[in-house]
Amino acid sequence: MTTPLAAVVLCAGKGTRMRSEKAKVLHPILGKPLCFYPLMRALELGASPVVPVVGHQAAEVEQAVRALFPAGPLRFALQKEQRGTADAVRSAEGALQGFQGRVLILYGDVPLVRRETLAALVDAHERGGGVLSLVSTRLEDPTGYGRVIREGGKVVRIVEHKDCTPAQREVRDCNAGIYLVDSSFLWTALANIRSTNAQGEFYLTDLVEMAAQKGPVPAIDADFNETAGVNDRVELSARARDLQARINIQHMRNGVSLADPATTYIEEGVTIGSDTEVGPGVSLSGATVVGRHVSIAQGCILHASSVADGTTLKPYTVLEEAKVGERCILGPFSRLRPGTDLAEEVHLGNFVETKKARIGKGSKANHLAYLGDAKIGSGVNVGAGTITCNYDGVNKHVTELGDKVFIGSDSQLVAPVKVGDGAYVGAGTTVTKDVPPGSLAVSRTPQVNLEGWVERKKARKAKSAEADPVKPDKVSVG
Ligand code: UD1
Ligand code: MG
Repeated sequence: MTTPLAAVVLCAGKGTRMRSEKAKVLHPILGKPLCFYPLMRALELGASPVVPVVGHQAAEVEQAVRALFPAGPLRFALQKEQRGTADAVRSAEGALQGFQGRVLILYGDVPLVRRETLAALVDAHERGGGVLSLVSTRLEDPTGYGRVIREGGKVVRIVEHKDCTPAQREVRDCNAGIYLVDSSFLWTALANIRSTNAQGEFYLTDLVEMAAQKGPVPAIDADFNETAGVNDRVELSARARDLQARINIQHMRNGVSLADPATTYIEEGVTIGSDTEVGPGVSLSGATVVGRHVSIAQGCILHASSVADGTTLKPYTVLEEAKVGERCILGPFSRLRPGTDLAEEVHLGNFVETKKARIGKGSKANHLAYLGDAKIGSGVNVGAGTITCNYDGVNKHVTELGDKVFIGSDSQLVAPVKVGDGAYVGAGTTVTKDVPPGSLAVSRTPQVNLEGWVERKKARKAKSAEADPVKPDKVSVG
């Protein structure tokens, strides 16, 4: 049986350099709070429980984290005062009472750590046979970082930058702040840490020397961009860019073409099928699912939506909590709002807005329409300028169009109203009563042609100019 794994994620810091009213770990990076990423990686690795240590804005951080992982095996711990990283981990002791196994320790402001690296840390720990293993990173400029000090090739301690001797400052191997520690060692060792150092803080890194006295301390090396933290908004944007590059590369490796990866925004958790092509400036966020052979042109924005195989999204189409079937053609400039559900082969054109609209197979609304609270059958043709008048000022009402209905241009459908299968609505009609299947509804006032009207008007105008030459032009009708 594998050894049980728990995780402690430090989220208590204020993040002064963010210059923000919001706690640092709640600042979004690619649509999710900073601390989402280390917490998610710990959960993916199977850690249970996962203990977020909160402190600064504890209530807000806890609420946000619970919302991110409603079913996650989380136990929150409170660090009342930020007295250092050792003190922060120690405040998780109560939450992990009775837990025996390995404790993964992560910092809540280090978002890019990969699952593979954490798995490698677990492996190294198993092979090493000691009580603590850690991740290190080699830096050209290690200023500010704790240095991993070795003697005879073996890790013996970590010395914080401010406590380093000049010789130790030359060391390039830095502490990434990611550890795996046996619980049997962790809590007793933490209780022995003192704050006699340059910063007067309880350093978690002091654990390393204690562990080195008990056995080997394996250190696995990881890339800097994986272990880099966020201290200010410049670093936040740098991490976002690196994370985006990593996500985009993964999609390309999986068979998705990105015309311009540098401008393509894809959040973690989005899935895209192979042979799908994504244009420049596209944004895919939330739990969006895109099928295979989909074409997403420049500037499309998809949030929490699904698009089935073979569909074409022309430029600047916007989807929010919408479901799109196979082989549809949408846009340019279509806007699908929450509750839109399109069957296959639906065509929606420019400036067509839908909301809570179920539209059947092969139906079309190619230009300028509002279809809200609508149930539309298959093979329906909705003309330009059609509006479902779904709101009476108090309540919303439903418009129902049967199969093979034809709605002429510039019609208003005043809901609640139904148009039966195969019925026609003449252009410019205001439909206020149900239309029976197979019939034609027209509500236009009959057209009147006044023959010779233009000539008569001209003559009148000439006459009045003669009578009063300085009078400005006046238009009179009739
Ligand atoms: C820490 C390490 C250092 C390492 C560096 C890597 C220590 C003593 N030093 O330094 O060796 O090279 O990270 O980035 O651990 N936190 C709390 N409560 C506290 C203090 C900190 O929750 O009382 C949290 C912070 O919010 C942050 C994390 O712990 O997420 C790290 O703290 P920070 O002060 O940034 O440590 P560093 O000085 O960067
Ligand atoms: Mg730091």
